[in-house]
Amino acid sequence: MDNGNSLKIKNGFTLWFTGLSGAGKTTITDIVEKQLRHEQVPIEVLDGDVVRTNLSKGLGFSREDRDTNVLRIGFVADLLTRNGVGVIVSAISPYKEARDEVRRNVGDFVEVFVDAPVEVCADRDVKGLYAKAYSGEIPEFTGVSDPYEAPAAPELHLHTDQEEAEESAQRVIEKLVELDYLERVQETSRA
Ligand SMILES: Nc1ncnc2c1ncn2[C@@H]1O[C@H](COP(=O)(O)OP(=O)(O)O)[C@@H](O)[C@H]1O
Ligand SMILES: [Mg+2]
Repeated sequence: MDNGNSLKIKNGFTLWFTGLSGAGKTTITDIVEKQLRHEQVPIEVLDGDVVRTNLSKGLGFSREDRDTNVLRIGFVADLLTRNGVGVIVSAISPYKEARDEVRRNVGDFVEVFVDAPVEVCADRDVKGLYAKAYSGEIPEFTGVSDPYEAPAAPELHLHTDQEEAEESAQRVIEKLVELDYLERVQETSRA
């Protein structure tokens, strides 16, 4: 942001993006991350796809394994959050109960529902997974053959079929300001 204002972190937070595969979690995360890093806000990203190659390696897609994955991400997010870091989690996290448990543990939890109809996500089919899910090649696929429990009261609800990713990202940052995790400070040194 180059309007003479810069952003400062006031308190650690966990920004938790939940939604179907292809809804736009990673895309929006990247924009928010980039902007906050540019503002020198301490940021760490935990992306579900990445976490499954290390922290949660070996876990599958049963409800139990999905919940374990979410709780592990939540554990790390909590450690960082309480040390003043802004954490961005980008994970399908389909079950409400597990998300709510993380919310209780972390406290400073900002849930963002990254929402697009499954048809739109399947149309995008970023990774070619929906084609495989519909053909049955991939079982237990969220939104196709496995449940997704939408958040009942997320802090923010983004409709990525109706707004640009950049617009969604700005709404996320505004929400963090509104909730007092970030503050705008006037840059007095600028002419
Ligand atoms: N408004 C939008 N917000 C986010 N992504 C969008 C939007 N419109 C189109 N897209 C596209 O949808 C895809 C979302 O993929 P991705 O971010 O990897 O989803 P996820 O991480 O939720 O699985 C990307 O190809 C992105 O360019
Ligand atoms: Mg992703």
